[in-house]
Amino acid sequence: MNLEFGYVSRKRISLKGRDFLELQDFTPEEVWAILKTTRLLKKRRKVPQKLKGKFAAMIFEKPSTRTRVSFEVAFEELGGRALYLSRNELQLGRGETIADTARVLSRYVDLIMARVYRYETLEELAKHATVPVINGLSDINHPLQTVADLYTIWEKFGKLRGLTVAWIGDGNNVCNSLLIGASKLGVNVIAATPREYMPSKRYIDWALENSSKSGSRIEIIEDPEKAVEDADIVMTDVFVSMGQEEEREKRLQVFYPKYQVNSNLISKAKKKVYFMHPLPAHRGEEVTDDVIDSDYSLVWDQAENRLHTAKALLYLMF
Ligand code: CP
Ligand code: NVA
Repeated sequence: MNLEFGYVSRKRISLKGRDFLELQDFTPEEVWAILKTTRLLKKRRKVPQKLKGKFAAMIFEKPSTRTRVSFEVAFEELGGRALYLSRNELQLGRGETIADTARVLSRYVDLIMARVYRYETLEELAKHATVPVINGLSDINHPLQTVADLYTIWEKFGKLRGLTVAWIGDGNNVCNSLLIGASKLGVNVIAATPREYMPSKRYIDWALENSSKSGSRIEIIEDPEKAVEDADIVMTDVFVSMGQEEEREKRLQVFYPKYQVNSNLISKAKKKVYFMHPLPAHRGEEVTDDVIDSDYSLVWDQAENRLHTAKALLYLMF
């Protein structure tokens, strides 16, 4: 195996035995180790079968295209086998507790990945599982997405420190995790969100704390045009996340059209600006076709990088 895997400045980084629930629990060096391992794994899809004989259980309380498929392919490309378990097909859906599910799955598999409604479910899983647990999205965060986003930006610009991301729209799970990842690695984030849909206070506080070490600039404002002025990347996400369907009308009234990323908003940004979105997109709501399909859109690379970053994380965890 290439000895460069998992090394940052010649120091070996291992995430063996760790849960991956919250990016704030990881040092900048550890996040860099995932990004650098990603670069190597993306160049060489045929890596040694590090997970040969290993099994993962993937629990999904919500739908998924990218997280499910990228993780399953990542696990299997490394030689293991990942099992898709939808909540309603498990006894969990009939009232078996999270704790009991965690205890039992730990007797069969080597890793649990879960996409859940409430972050507390992940904490409960991790508390009772004897194998590592990975967060595949919760109501408050989406760290796997942030790692892929940071990798995509690094791949495009060849650096991270000093770049500016304008986040437009809902201060949601993806935005919370972005604030953490970016502030750890010296990326500036100017988020323009309606006052009632700002990122969570805990995440803003963490980001400010991180930025005092990394030097990144973190601002939460309301005006999208002001946010994109200095941006290298304009990023958005849906106005109505999974689980918020009942708030749809109310949310659209607040977000649309002011927070839509369209060519008019992009025209207020620098000439060279990129567009990113974790997907799935609601075309015509938070973003228009001409932006998401433009030559400055990175969304397909961003989606592809979910696979390579998941592989890197798994590689460092085992
Ligand atoms: N970006 C993302 O997590 O996509 P899925 O909901 O398709 O997994
Ligand atoms: N904020 C979105 C992200 C989907 C990947 C949601 O939670 O539905």
